[in-house]
Order: sequence, then structure tokens, then C-alpha cells
Amino acid sequence: MKRIDFLKLGGVLSGGLFGGWSLSSCNPSSNHANQQSKADAWSDVTGSMMNHAAPALPKVRVAMIGLGNRGSTLIEMLEWLVTKGHAEITVLCDVQEAHVARAAQKVAGFQATSPLLIAESSEEAWRKACNPELADLVVIATPWHWHASMAIHAMEQGLHAASEVPIAYTEEDCLALVKASERTQRHCIMLENCCYNEEELWVLNMVKQGLFGDLTHAECAYLHDLRALLLDATYYHNRWRLREHLERDGNLYTTHGLGPVCMYMDVLRGDNLSHLVSMSSNEAALSKALRESDDPELQALASQIRCGDVNTTLIRTTLGKSIMLQFDTHTGRPYSRLNKLCGTGATHYGYPSRLFLDHGPTWDWHRWEDDDSHAVAREAGVHPLWAQLQYGIEDNQQGHGGMDFVMMYRLIRCLNEGVSLDLSVYDGALWSLVGVLGEQSVAQGNQRVDIPDVSGGAWASSHEHPVFREV
Ligand SMILES: NC(=O)c1ccc[n+]([C@@H]2O[C@H](COP(=O)([O-])OP(=O)(O)OC[C@H]3O[C@@H](n4cnc5c(N)ncnc54)[C@H](O)[C@@H]3O)[C@@H](O)[C@H]2O)c1
Repeated sequence: MKRIDFLKLGGVLSGGLFGGWSLSSCNPSSNHANQQSKADAWSDVTGSMMNHAAPALPKVRVAMIGLGNRGSTLIEMLEWLVTKGHAEITVLCDVQEAHVARAAQKVAGFQATSPLLIAESSEEAWRKACNPELADLVVIATPWHWHASMAIHAMEQGLHAASEVPIAYTEEDCLALVKASERTQRHCIMLENCCYNEEELWVLNMVKQGLFGDLTHAECAYLHDLRALLLDATYYHNRWRLREHLERDGNLYTTHGLGPVCMYMDVLRGDNLSHLVSMSSNEAALSKALRESDDPELQALASQIRCGDVNTTLIRTTLGKSIMLQFDTHTGRPYSRLNKLCGTGATHYGYPSRLFLDHGPTWDWHRWEDDDSHAVAREAGVHPLWAQLQYGIEDNQQGHGGMDFVMMYRLIRCLNEGVSLDLSVYDGALWSLVGVLGEQSVAQGNQRVDIPDVSGGAWASSHEHPVFREV
């Protein structure tokens, strides 16, 4: 586990800029192991949580930790499930009293019973929320450095754990999550909502229908100009997200782009991620924004940003496919996850969606399908899940156009039915681990880093992605 060293920020940190931040908020650290001992560390993973089904929970009791921007939206995504009797929110926990009060008011709008409110400023009060007498599932929407320890503790208390992204950002935490899930036989899912977006589900469905033929390459990303939010004094609790950019260099947010691509490529369901190289550009745009802010404390941080503006990671899969993964939250440009996929039968580019259907080696100039042809393909390939859940998607547009509703629906309904979840602990650990190992590659002058098998060999058995199963 790694801690962020803020000591060198000295006076700036001890002042008001980062609120009550203390080193005790971080996890213990250790140095990066070499490639062989890394593989050894993963050698006693058994893969027992692949397609694991736990006993059915007709009504899932949910404890929610972290009620900021994301936690608030996740509560809204539970409304339909609560009103239908599939779930009940039994605990609301946050270190900020105002956030607990806001969440309680939201819940009172659609749930007859009142959750237990844990509104203590102690950063360890969340442990009380992980109580099997109170809850079956803990939903974690706190700053990144809490995710792994909260999820592991919840599992050890007998609860299933669902954490926001990334679920971990050290290799030790990725491994500890997998081992805790296998040891306790509790689900541990990373809430990767982009796997449930309409466009990504459509592309996945076309892959399943064979339209893309043999897949060869994908490009994906998290390109989101976050400068205003990173600098804002209150948007993120104690500006936790800006701190990450002061201390780390690499891809800090791999999973929105990589998750759907791993689903397209059957990663952990017949293929695996083998190795990567990662390179960061110089840093310029965030420090410029800091320099130009009217806050002297922010100006003082301008020279301390470590995270390069644009990070690019190249990944090769065991079966030879390649993935280009990018991260940039500094540059001013429109939002994109790229969502590009190439195969022998078709190519797709996202933002905006464009499709090319291959018709063999011809001399005509290659053009994207026109609007009519694109619309026909879109209609023909709509994922059954997206069609099935239209009612909830329309009523929950605030959840990233409906994908957050689909994600929460699947989580709760799978738990209700006692079937395996769409994503396992191995998916979350692997997609997060790519960020960790990418940081290592950057630190080692862009060297190749091998990606250990996080699944105990379970990846080799190919099977249809559970997201196609009706629940
Ligand atoms: N999947 C998505 O689309 C998406 C979107 C936004 C954020 N996120 C993720 O959600 C998480 C939260 O982000 P956010 O934007 O809501 O941040 P935020 O700062 O708005 O919210 C974090 C909340 O956690 C609380 N908190 C901090 N430490 C705590 C502790 N020890 N115990 C209990 N509560 C604690 C804070 O008071 C705050 O209310 C992050 O992991 C982020 O990456 C995901």
C-alpha cells in the first residue's frame, strides 16, 4: 500500500488549502517489487470468485459511505429499486454532517424507513457502517485513498462491497482486495458505470453478434477537462483530487475507458492483459491554471504538479490484441472516452459514434457509414439490457444518461436473485492495476511492465460476459 507524501508541501498543506488532511488518512507504504516477486505475490490467488454466486438477498440492505457528488447520484439511482422493494438504504455515513443531512432528505423522499445516520468527523467512523446487523452491501463513494481499506473491512465483516472507481491505486491493495474477496467469499465489485453506457453496450453487442470479426486493436481514454473542479475550494472534499495530481504521474483514472474495451476483448473471459508501457507528457495546463488563479495558496502549488497533462499507455493482451489507453484531465478540450475498436469486420470510433463496415479490400475511398446506415446498425444492435430497462433509463437521465441506473439495477437485482455479478473482483483489480503499473512504467523511463494474472488462471476459460444474462 502506498501513502501520498504531503509533508514536502509543508506550510501550504498545514494551512487551510486542503482542510483537515493528515497523513493518517493514507495507507501504509511499500516499495515496488520486481517483476518476479510481483508474479509470486499473485501466485496463491485461486480464481474462486469468478462467476461466484452468493445466497439470494430478496431485499438488499445498503450502507452508503461517502455522500458527496457521486454518493448523491448513487442514492438517486437506488430510488426505483427501493420503491419496488428490491433494496433498502439502511445506513448513511459521511464525515460531513451537511452531506449526511442532504442524503437523508433525499432518501426520505422515496423510502418509508429511516436509515441510521453516521455523521461524525472522525475519519474512522465509517467502520460502524460495515455492520452485518445493519447492511448486506456497502457502497463506497469516498476519495480514492479510502476505497480499498473500506471494501476489505466491509468484506471481513460479512458484507458485499461495491466501490467507486478506481477501486485501488497500489498493487498491494489490488491483491489485498482479491484475497479478501476469495477468503470471505463476499462480492467485491468496482462500480464501473461506463460498461453500461448505451454506446458501449451497443458495440459489445455487435462484437457478440460477430459484426467486428476478429478484434485486433482498441483505443480508449478518460479525456475530461477537470481544471475548474480540481481548483474549486469545495467541489471535492478538501480538494482531495488535486492532491493526487501533486503526488502521482501516470494514468490516475484508467477504468472508464479500459473497462468496456476489456469487455469487448473478453479480457478475463478467454484473454488477459499481458504487459504495458506508459508515457506521460510534460505538465503545463494545470499549473498554468493554478498560476493564473487569484488564490495565492493555489499559485504556490503551480510548480509542484507531478502528473503530466497527457498520459498514454499501450497494453498488449495475451492473445496479441493491442490497446491504447489515454488520460488527460488538464487540457481544455471536449470530453471523450474515444471508444475506438478495430476488427476484421468493422471499425467503430466514438465521440461522435462512427461505424465502418468492412467490405473487403476495395479501391473505393473508405467512408464511415452514412447516418441512415449507422441508424440501422444502431437499432439492429441495441443491447437487450438497454432495451429492457428503458423505463428506468428515461427517468434517471441525471445518472450519466441512464447508465448509472442500469449499473445499479444490475448490482441489486443480481444480489436479489443470488446469481453472480456482472463484474468480479478480478475485473476491478485488473483495470485499476493497469494504472498502478503504468505509473511504474512512467517512473522507470517508460519501460515494459508485465501485468500479473490477477485471476489465478481463471481468465483462460472463455465464457459469455454475464452482462448478456437476463436478470
Ligand atoms: N463513476 C463515475 O461516473 C464517477 C463520477 C464522479 C465521481 N466518481 C468517484 O466517486 C468517488 C467520490 O467522488 P466525488 O466526486 O463524489 O467526491 P466528493 O469529494 O464530492 O465526495 C466524497 C465524499 O466522501 C466523504 N468522505 C471523505 N472521507 C471520508 C471518510 N473517511 N468517511 C466517510 N466519508 C468520507 C466526503 O465528506 C465527501 O462527502 C471518487 O472515487 C470518484 O472517482 C465516479
